[in-house]
Amino acid sequence: MANLDLMKSVRAKASQRKKTIVLPESHDERVLKAAEILVKENIAKVITLGNNDKIFEDAKILGIDLQGVRLIDYVKSDLMSDFTNIFYNLRKHKGLTIEQAKEILQRDLFFGAMLVRERHADGFVAGSFASTGDVLRAAIQCVGMPEGISIVSSFFLMIFPDQTYSFADCAVVPNPDASQLADIAISTADNYKKLTGEEPYVAMLSFSTKGSAEHELVDKVLEATKIAKAKRPDLNIDGELQFDAAIIESIGKKKAPGSTVAGRGNVMVFPDLQAGNIGYKIAQRLGKAEAVGPVVQGLKKPLFDLSRGCSVEDIVNTSAIAVLMAE
Ligand SMILES: CC(C)(COP(=O)(O)OP(=O)(O)OC[C@H]1O[C@@H](n2cnc3c(N)ncnc32)[C@H](O)[C@@H]1OP(=O)(O)O)[C@@H](O)C(=O)NCCC(=O)NCCS
Repeated sequence: MANLDLMKSVRAKASQRKKTIVLPESHDERVLKAAEILVKENIAKVITLGNNDKIFEDAKILGIDLQGVRLIDYVKSDLMSDFTNIFYNLRKHKGLTIEQAKEILQRDLFFGAMLVRERHADGFVAGSFASTGDVLRAAIQCVGMPEGISIVSSFFLMIFPDQTYSFADCAVVPNPDASQLADIAISTADNYKKLTGEEPYVAMLSFSTKGSAEHELVDKVLEATKIAKAKRPDLNIDGELQFDAAIIESIGKKKAPGSTVAGRGNVMVFPDLQAGNIGYKIAQRLGKAEAVGPVVQGLKKPLFDLSRGCSVEDIVNTSAIAVLMAE
C-alpha cells in the first residue's frame, strides 16, 4: 500500500465498524475538535466526559459543533455507584477501601476506562492532558490484560513514503526482561498485521548481529528471540540483529546469511525503552517518518495513550486505530 495512504485506509475501515470511543478529556479543545471530526466523518461514535454546560460553552466559543457527540456528566452519572463498587471489588485485595474507590472514580480517566470495561464503549483515547503513567494506570487497573499476556506495552507505526514499520516498545516498559520482550514482539507482530494487512517480519534489535559481539545485554535479546519463536512458531522472528542488518538486504545477507528476517524487517523490537524512545524520535525527526502512536497493546480492550504534544489529527487517527482494534 502507498503508505501515506495508510491512515486514510484505517479511517475508511473504521467507518464501517460503528464503534464507540470515549475521549474523557473534554476540557482540552483538541479533544472537542477531534470529537467533532470523528462523528462528522463517521469514524466512530464518541462519548466525552465532563460538565455538560461547560462543554457546550467551550464548544460554542471554539466554534465546534458537538451534534452527535454523547456527553456524560460523569460525576452525577447513574453509573457512578455501580462503577465504584466494581472497581472496589477489583482492587480490594490490594488494600483499596471503598472511600478510596469513590475518590478514584471521580477522575475522568478512571470513569472512562470503566465505561469500556463495562461495555458502554469499545475503546478509549486519552493523554492529551494526562501523563502516560496516569492513563496506563487507569487502563491496567480497570481493564487489565487477557489470559496469556504478561505485559502492557506499546508500538508506533512509523510511516515512510515507501514502507511502514512498527517500532516497539517506545513508550511504556522501561526495562523488559527476556520473557516480557518476547511478549512485546508477539503483540507488535499481531497488531502490525491487523493494521497494515502485511506479513510481519520481526527483528529483535541489538548492537550485535548473530554473535558479532558478546555481552549480557545481547544475551537478553537472544533469550527473548528464543522465547518468542517457541511461543509463536508461525511468526517470522529473528535476532539478534543490528538495525542495518534488519532492514537492508545486502547487509542482512552479509551479516546474517540464511535469516528469514534480515533485510526485510518491518517490526522493529528494541531491547529497552531508552533505545526504543530514542530510536523512534530519530526516525521521526531526522528520517521524517510520520509517527502514529504510541498505540498501547496487551490490554483486553483498546485503551490508548496520546502524547501531550498531540494534534487534533493525532487524536482522530489514534481513535480510528482503536476502532479497528476493538472486538
Ligand atoms: C505502566 C506504568 C504507569 C506503571 O507504573 P507504576 O504504577 O509505577 O508501576 P508499579 O511498578 O508500581 O506497578 C503498579 C501495578 O501496575 C502493574 N504494571 C506496571 N507496569 C505494567 C505493565 N507494563 N503491564 C502490565 N502491568 C503493569 C504492576 O504489576 C502493578 O500491579 P498491581 O497493582 O496489580 O500489583 C509505568 O511503567 C509508566 O509510567 N510507564 C510509562 C513510561 C513513560 O513515562 N513513558 C513516557 C515516554 S513516551
